[in-house]
Amino acid sequence: MEKKASMLHDGALEGQVIVVTGGGTGLGRSMAEAFLRLGAKVCITSRKLDVLKATAAEMEKATGGTVLPVACDVRNWQEVDRMLEEVIAAFGQVDGLVNNAAGNFISPTERLSTKAFETIIGIVLMGTVNCTLAFGKHWIAKGEKDKKVLNITTTYAWTGSGYVVPSACAKAGVLALTRSLAVEWAKYGIRTNAIAPGPFPTKGAWQRLLPGELVEKFDMAKRVPLGRVGEHRELTDLASYLISSYSGYINGEVVTIDGGEWLKGAGQFNMLEMIEPKMWDSIERMVRGVRG
Ligand code: HXC
Ligand code: NAP
Repeated sequence: MEKKASMLHDGALEGQVIVVTGGGTGLGRSMAEAFLRLGAKVCITSRKLDVLKATAAEMEKATGGTVLPVACDVRNWQEVDRMLEEVIAAFGQVDGLVNNAAGNFISPTERLSTKAFETIIGIVLMGTVNCTLAFGKHWIAKGEKDKKVLNITTTYAWTGSGYVVPSACAKAGVLALTRSLAVEWAKYGIRTNAIAPGPFPTKGAWQRLLPGELVEKFDMAKRVPLGRVGEHRELTDLASYLISSYSGYINGEVVTIDGGEWLKGAGQFNMLEMIEPKMWDSIERMVRGVRG
């Protein structure tokens, strides 16, 4: 991640312990590093301990912060419970959970097995459920307040999308979980929010969603009204704010950060951007010429 200053002040997350699932790579890693720079202690967790350990060492070196790498398959609730125990043993508390771990790949749906659906729904939806339940129960039992759950969803959680249907189903569930618990658990001092990112290049996503020549054939930047993909620091600033106490009155919100991508796909006449500007004079004459 670039070392530009964060939108939040130094020490904005001092005293916070934050767990980032899928924190060894991609956007999870970028968020974890941003939280560290703001003074948080961080646990990164995923299945591959070697990746987590290497990332933790690099991040500690870069920031001088403390990172706990814990292997945990979020599909398995016993492993999630053990991960939480390790975090409490190491740091004595936990304040924020970022449900970022995901699995996804492109495929025509008729080529998928039930197992393929189960795998993606298991990681994305049940993984988020397992972590949220474990952390939520812990906070509620302890009577601790000012706790935060931040879920990483996608814009196709509400539009749906062909060719990534298990992911779309699972992310829609994550969105429903976000809004439901925002209401139910607010009384316990737990805020639940979500981020819906547009295209932010990562190895994990790009290799599975735009393999081989597809990356040139389907330039993601062209789908975005702002004409570019996202920068990780734009997302990490938003995540840092939502996981901090400065966003204390935001609850149940899903913040889209996609340069306008999904709205471009949704607006019925947005395709008219393909019309050359010089054509608009004659089009206007035709339209104004319609009488009666
Ligand atoms: C059809 C497939 C398949 C494919 C796997 N399967 N890949 N089916 N086409 N390309 C099927 C398998 O055949 C198997 O079913 C079942 O899915 C489980 O596959 P496994 O390989 O055994 O699963 P596992 O080892 O657990 O790996 C999970 C994974 C893998 C999701 C398949 O890709 C992974 O580990 N991903 C983690 C990281 C990731 O996906 N990152 C991208 C997040 S991007 P059968 O019936 O054969 O046993 C993202 C972006 C959203 O979410 C929006 C972007 C704009
Ligand atoms: P990524 O680098 O592939 O991240 C996915 C992470 O999830 C990996 O670190 C992976 O680590 C972990 N993971 C997968 N299965 C797991 C399991 N069963 N248990 C625990 N951890 C598991 O991809 P990314 O692009 O950064 O994606 C991060 C998040 O952003 C995801 O929620 C994704 O849906 C969302 N998102 C990304 C984009 C984008 O453009 N990049 C757009 C919209 C939404 P292990 O393999 O070590 O387990």
